[in-house]
Amino acid sequence: MSVPHATYTHGHHESVVRSHAWRTAANSAAYLLPHLRPGMTLLDVGCGPGTITADLAAAVAPGAVTAVDSDGGIVAQAARSAAPTVTWQVGDVHHLPYPDGTFDVVHAHQVLQHLADPVDALTAMRRLSAPGGLVAARDADYAAFVWHPHVPALDDWLALYRRVTRANGGEPDAGRRLLSWARQAGFGDVTAGSSTWCFATPADRAWWSSTWATRITSSTLADQALAYGHATRADLDRMADGWREWGMAEDAWFTVVHGEILCRA
Ligand SMILES: C[S@@+](CC[C@H](N)C(=O)[O-])C[C@H]1O[C@@H](n2cnc3c(N)ncnc32)[C@H](O)[C@@H]1O
Repeated sequence: MSVPHATYTHGHHESVVRSHAWRTAANSAAYLLPHLRPGMTLLDVGCGPGTITADLAAAVAPGAVTAVDSDGGIVAQAARSAAPTVTWQVGDVHHLPYPDGTFDVVHAHQVLQHLADPVDALTAMRRLSAPGGLVAARDADYAAFVWHPHVPALDDWLALYRRVTRANGGEPDAGRRLLSWARQAGFGDVTAGSSTWCFATPADRAWWSSTWATRITSSTLADQALAYGHATRADLDRMADGWREWGMAEDAWFTVVHGEILCRA
């Protein structure tokens, strides 16, 4: 059966990959780490630049780790820079060629939010996990993001991001829906929670604001916003200025809310 296709909103512009490569298992998969044991086999779906994958591989070593992403360029980049022990492969979560029950753990970080049929993806991840194994997923929930000080251009940035992602077939407010999606995918034993990233130190706010100031003007997101007629170049420049204004505020604080699920297969 064919699965509806979504367009990946962020793309793999240097500013996006730089942001994704900041991620570690400690800051993005802490809910999963206590469940990992040496020797487990693990599949990381939508691995991007693979920094989280590399940490997960260290946690299950000498267990075999496979990482897949639908974008061949980012898979090649991950294979060059992260964890030579990982098998890096191009693949679509909806059509992975592995036999049923191959992996003790199947993980996806910030992937389901970009799919038109996240329930089908979770069903596929369930098929690939061994009996008693784990499926783990964590996704952002954009409507739940909070920040200070109030910068009107950031309200417009958030509205634009959510509009473009929905036009692409994804769900920007995925975090709150993960438990529901897991139930629809047939999981009976699900632990659902949440966790955040918080950017409030001078270094963190400078980094977070500068990556978004670039992303909103130069990445695939910017191209799509313009192509769909959801923003003008002047709108994007104003949002980038808003990000710089926020980043320069001495009391700036930004929290990224995520939902997360641990599902027992
Ligand atoms: C937001 S990035 C997350 C990357 C990585 N998991 C991380 O958190 O750093 C989402 C990734 O999912 C990939 N992706 C999108 N749709 C996919 C699909 N259908 N199957 C596999 N990967 C997909 C994208 O190419 C992108 O690299």
